Amino acid sequence: MGLNQDFEKVLLSEEEISKKVGEIAEQINRDYAGRDIFLIAILKGSFIFMGDLAKRLERPTYIDFMEVSSYGSAAMSSGDVKIIKDLRCSIFDKDVLIVEDIIDSGKTLNKLMKLLSARKPKSLKLCSLLTKPDRREVEIDIDYLGFSIPDEFVVGYGLDYNELYRNLPYIAVLKRSIYE
Ligand code: IMP
Ligand code: MG
Repeated sequence: MGLNQDFEKVLLSEEEISKKVGEIAEQINRDYAGRDIFLIAILKGSFIFMGDLAKRLERPTYIDFMEVSSYGSAAMSSGDVKIIKDLRCSIFDKDVLIVEDIIDSGKTLNKLMKLLSARKPKSLKLCSLLTKPDRREVEIDIDYLGFSIPDEFVVGYGLDYNELYRNLPYIAVLKRSIYE
């Protein structure tokens, strides 16, 4: 009894996620050979992913956080991005890697990439644990991707529904009856 009643099923287990995060880190370690990495975690959803990923990076790694809100309901993005918390550090001339939990419509990241590239980093890449390609409204290039998932609302491993479930070690599909 408990939380599990809220879920349709577990979509990605703790083990599956951990294996994938390891693979992504390997790719990043290869691609950033000889360079420092400037990680930007987009709060709040990417906090666990960022922690697990950062532990496996072998290059000198700077870490900063940014929180943006896209207006609209919990399950919908309007694409109007507002900065709630900005970076503490300058990203000018840095090799920046954005760490995001999920790309849905793509509107949030589209706006954010434009905003950050205006600050003239040396490079700007995107790492997202999840993507829902069926929901895409604006094209987004994801340089490092964990999993492509169907159009279902998922929670856990940082992802929330109304601020709940972020602490789950796995990713589950939320029952429609919870949010409809
Ligand atoms: P986008 O602008 O539509 O790409 O919105 C992306 C943001 O919406 C993510 O960073 C999440 O905060 C949220 N989001 C989209 N889909 C889900 C989901 O299935 N579960 C939890 N949050 C989601
Ligand atoms: Mg959210």
